[in-house]
Amino acid sequence: MREPVLLVTGANGEIGHGLIERIGRDRREKIVALDLTPLDPRLAEFCHESLVGSILDEALLDRLVSRYEFRTIFHLAALLSTRAEFSPRAAHDVNVSGTLNLLQMAADQTEWSGRRVKFLFPSSIAVYGLPDLEEKARADRVREKSWNLPTTMYGCNKIYCEQLGRYYCSYYKQLGAADGVRGVDFRALRFPGLISAVTVPSGGTSDFIPEMLHAVASGQEYACFVREDTRIPFMAMPDAIKALLMLEAASEDSLSWRSYNVTSFNPSAAEFRDELAKRWNDVRVTFEPHLKRQSIVDSWPADVNDDAAREDWAWAPDYDLPRALDDYLVPGMRGRIEAGEGA
Ligand SMILES: NC(=O)c1ccc[n+]([C@@H]2O[C@H](COP(=O)([O-])OP(=O)(O)OC[C@H]3O[C@@H](n4cnc5c(N)ncnc54)[C@H](O)[C@@H]3O)[C@@H](O)[C@H]2O)c1
Repeated sequence: MREPVLLVTGANGEIGHGLIERIGRDRREKIVALDLTPLDPRLAEFCHESLVGSILDEALLDRLVSRYEFRTIFHLAALLSTRAEFSPRAAHDVNVSGTLNLLQMAADQTEWSGRRVKFLFPSSIAVYGLPDLEEKARADRVREKSWNLPTTMYGCNKIYCEQLGRYYCSYYKQLGAADGVRGVDFRALRFPGLISAVTVPSGGTSDFIPEMLHAVASGQEYACFVREDTRIPFMAMPDAIKALLMLEAASEDSLSWRSYNVTSFNPSAAEFRDELAKRWNDVRVTFEPHLKRQSIVDSWPADVNDDAAREDWAWAPDYDLPRALDDYLVPGMRGRIEAGEGA
């Protein structure tokens, strides 16, 4: 008999760190972790097994399916937005073909187990594409069905994967025989930029806020790659983990939609610098916009409307910006520096 487990792909990344620790501490399920890189030893104690390998390796996925029954899959593995613009084809392979491999694996498993696999997918505000700053100002808090016109390979990958998820959820093998449980219980969150006190981001285009924080906390200068007035939504990592776990726990009947906006706060780059200056004496931040990265951030909404998540599954963040800084980010950074881990 196959062992029931929870699968986390991209386990070694920023979200993987927070999610595995949280599930490992709070729940009894066995976690199987998969990533291209060896799992951070701090996470190993929470995992039943950690595998080094690619979601593109179908033989590896076949071996996993022969041993385990995946009740829930948190599919976090991806190439992020900046990296994807340098290698669009590789991004498409990982972000789209890799996701398709996992959706198919989940759908096959649903067919033989008779139980729909839950599939949690972190999408992104990169699915939105505003044509210019005037429209961005007019758009205000963008709703899920508006402005689905991404300008990046990453955003195109995300919105297509949401559609693949919708297909596997509601229409998979729709012309087949009527009986039998089939498909995948797909649920996606369109995350804003995420800020962690534990990990330093790399490869994303919202990285200017977490990079600024990590530089200031470790007493370094920071040349911010966007203008002072640049504004997009953000969230502290504990709220991102909370949102994933709330969406996982929501009853399927309550879901009016499968790809939800969630957000917490949206300071401009200068406002964030000013908040840091209230908490650290030595804040040396300059603004030196990288025109191409700036144009990507300018195409993302200044804020998103997350009413659907609030109404359907009672979403509400725990952290506004001051609380995120005072109760999570600043103590976390100071703790890491004192432990000699750098910020
Ligand atoms: N961090 C954010 O601000 C943010 C915002 C919106 C959405 N997301 C999404 O959340 C998910 C996780 O993001 P993150 O911030 O933890 O990213 P991350 O870059 O920190 O982690 C991604 C992980 O995926 C792994 N990976 C890459 N290719 C792989 C492959 N072929 N097979 C197996 N593993 C592979 C990487 O080694 C890495 O550990 C991604 O889908 C990302 O698009 C993140």
